[in-house]
Amino acid sequence: MATVTFDHVNKIFGDFHAVQDLNLEIADGEFMVLVGPSGCGKTTSLRMIAGLEEITSGELRIGDRVVNDVPPKDRDIAMVFQSYALYPHMSVRENLAFGLKLRKVPKAEIERRVNEAAETIQLQKLLDRKPKELSGGQRQRVALGRAIVREPAVFLMDEPLSNLDAKLRVQTRAEIARLHQRLGTTMVYVTHDQIEAMTMGTRIAVMSEGLLQQVGTPQTLYDTPLNRFVAGFIGSPSMNFVDVTVDGSGADARLVGASDWSIPIPERLRSTAGVSGRKLVAGFRPEHLDIGEAGEGQGSFRARADVVEYLGNEELLHLSAAEQDIVAIVNSSHRVRPGDIVDMIVTLSKLHLFDAETGAAMTPETTAAAA
Ligand SMILES: Nc1ncnc2c1ncn2[C@@H]1O[C@H](COP(=O)(O)OP(=O)(O)O)[C@@H](O)[C@H]1O
Ligand SMILES: [Mg+2]
Repeated sequence: MATVTFDHVNKIFGDFHAVQDLNLEIADGEFMVLVGPSGCGKTTSLRMIAGLEEITSGELRIGDRVVNDVPPKDRDIAMVFQSYALYPHMSVRENLAFGLKLRKVPKAEIERRVNEAAETIQLQKLLDRKPKELSGGQRQRVALGRAIVREPAVFLMDEPLSNLDAKLRVQTRAEIARLHQRLGTTMVYVTHDQIEAMTMGTRIAVMSEGLLQQVGTPQTLYDTPLNRFVAGFIGSPSMNFVDVTVDGSGADARLVGASDWSIPIPERLRSTAGVSGRKLVAGFRPEHLDIGEAGEGQGSFRARADVVEYLGNEELLHLSAAEQDIVAIVNSSHRVRPGDIVDMIVTLSKLHLFDAETGAAMTPETTAAAA
């Protein structure tokens, strides 16, 4: 097992800066997810760990060893890709054993590892089948198995579930999480899917345009995003954002948006919100809105329901307020109909504020000290 450390790592393709000054320490045995929109530099970062991409500057370490110039085969890593090209004419057993044979691992050892891997991911009954006799999910398991038999110090996975249908994706997701629990090997997992990141990661590193935005546990990213990008990327449906201006001061200070949209500034954010007239962005998640009239000190606004998506126990409301779309998730017993005018309460304890220009979160001092 091993740690993986990016120390001021850069990757430049021609004149394109794909990964910028990346500093990230992946602990031994950790399940680290790199997540971000397409093109943000996830695969490039993973390929640098694998040794498939040269590092332009900085230092990459696996354990205590600087691996910048170590060839891939000497890095003690195994990689699983999105396209899991198996050898079609070989059985599952032969597919699992092939890489080990190439490395001249003794026969008895190959057999032990193949059987162990097959047991770990429940391939025992499939060992004599050919890839074409397997489902997509089973094939992806064989691809995982090929990585497992290597018994690497670090697993690298690049969107390994993207070719699977939704149901299989959920199953295989849980399987990979179980695999990690069982083996305890360091894993670096790349995905553009924030739900995958949230459900699988011990910690998550969020990237955007070649820059690391924030690293933390799923709960840290959800509760205290450091900037607007992370706030909008983590959570589904996404956080709502309303452009606001600070109005007034002290206990009477409010956040005022378009069309008389206005809520009080909760006490914990008052000192960082700044003076009257300051431009901010208020952020609140769909699940932190509810229908009802606000009492003393609560925040509420009136909205029109444009579209209602019934989800069974909940309904998703697409609302118009502050001259924009706002999404809310409420209990479906409200039975809101399109066109209804509803009063929405904002859970002020869950309100986020961001600088309108930089997007940086206004962190309440108590949280900043605790983080
Ligand atoms: N070999 C390359 N040459 C030039 N640009 C590249 C190369 N590989 C990747 N890029 C660019 O670097 C950026 C990051 O790519 P990548 O790491 O694959 O993103 P992600 O995996 O997050 O979708 C993209 O803009 C991509 O076009
Ligand atoms: Mg990629």
